[in-house]
Amino acid sequence: MKKYTLITGACGGLGKSFVKLCAKNGENLVLTGTSETKLKNLVDEFAEEFKEIDVKTAVLDLSKPEDRKNIMKFLVDEKIEVNRLINNAGVIIEGDTMRFSEDEILNAIEVNCKGTVDLTMKCLNNRNKEEKFEVLTVASVASSYPIPHMAVYAATKAFLVSMMTGLSIELEKENVVITTVCPGGMATTQAMKDSIASMGLGGKLSCTPTDKVAKIALKALKRKKKNVVTGGFNKFLVVIGKPFSKAFLARSTGRIWKKSQAKRNF
Ligand SMILES: NC(=O)c1ccc[n+]([C@@H]2O[C@H](COP(=O)([O-])OP(=O)(O)OC[C@H]3O[C@@H](n4cnc5c(N)ncnc54)[C@H](OP(=O)(O)O)[C@@H]3O)[C@@H](O)[C@H]2O)c1
Repeated sequence: MKKYTLITGACGGLGKSFVKLCAKNGENLVLTGTSETKLKNLVDEFAEEFKEIDVKTAVLDLSKPEDRKNIMKFLVDEKIEVNRLINNAGVIIEGDTMRFSEDEILNAIEVNCKGTVDLTMKCLNNRNKEEKFEVLTVASVASSYPIPHMAVYAATKAFLVSMMTGLSIELEKENVVITTVCPGGMATTQAMKDSIASMGLGGKLSCTPTDKVAKIALKALKRKKKNVVTGGFNKFLVVIGKPFSKAFLARSTGRIWKKSQAKRNF
């Protein structure tokens, strides 16, 4: 059976960089996203890059349990053997936590945590145990501290780092490699561009182009690293926070985020 890399959120900013790089590596791809039209446009956009590989697309809204079931049926029906899963899809919610509706908060948790874990477990359970299986999960530098005014997002990413790192140790003797990548800022959506600009020099220093993030992440996966933080400034931010209490860090990050959000009229 042909082997495939499955990418979630393939139509997004970082998603496209993973698509480009994996296609360049000659990997067959299963591209997933929430919109059939966007997936079709993605295939058209990369027609040249996809000439030498087999590419399948499937709608997968990670917040929907039935979509998570359907994708597995699709893989079985199409005789697709996934040997690499890239958990790239994520929902970024930013602002005072109490302003979000229950649905908005639960959706972020459903997509970033529950949906991602469910898909990962399903793919692991369906893997060919004779072969190596790789999981790359996109978390964030935001996982390193509690962040007031971005509390839910930071917590979902902290969950992913903790869970994936734990699982990676459990499965390392079973030929399963699990890497979590923590990027800082990436200028993907307009909201992220505005956020990075409002952070001034810190925002600029934390920012890494998506192609570079994808390259660093896939290199770390190849080297079987459990975790990788992109960029020197982001590594510094993670290390410098280590001796301090969570409450102290939360107060500091809270001040930075409040200031940045005030500039954006949140
Ligand atoms: N941008 C940053 O500064 C930054 C920093 C650190 C980490 N990250 C993380 O990097 C990853 C990629 O983000 P990005 O910056 O490239 O943003 P993006 O362009 O908005 O991409 C996010 C992707 O997530 C997908 N997605 C959203 N809700 C979904 C759902 N319910 N089910 C399935 N997929 C869903 C979207 O798919 P559709 O397009 O198909 O709707 C979209 O392609 C995310 O995990 C994000 O948290 C971003």
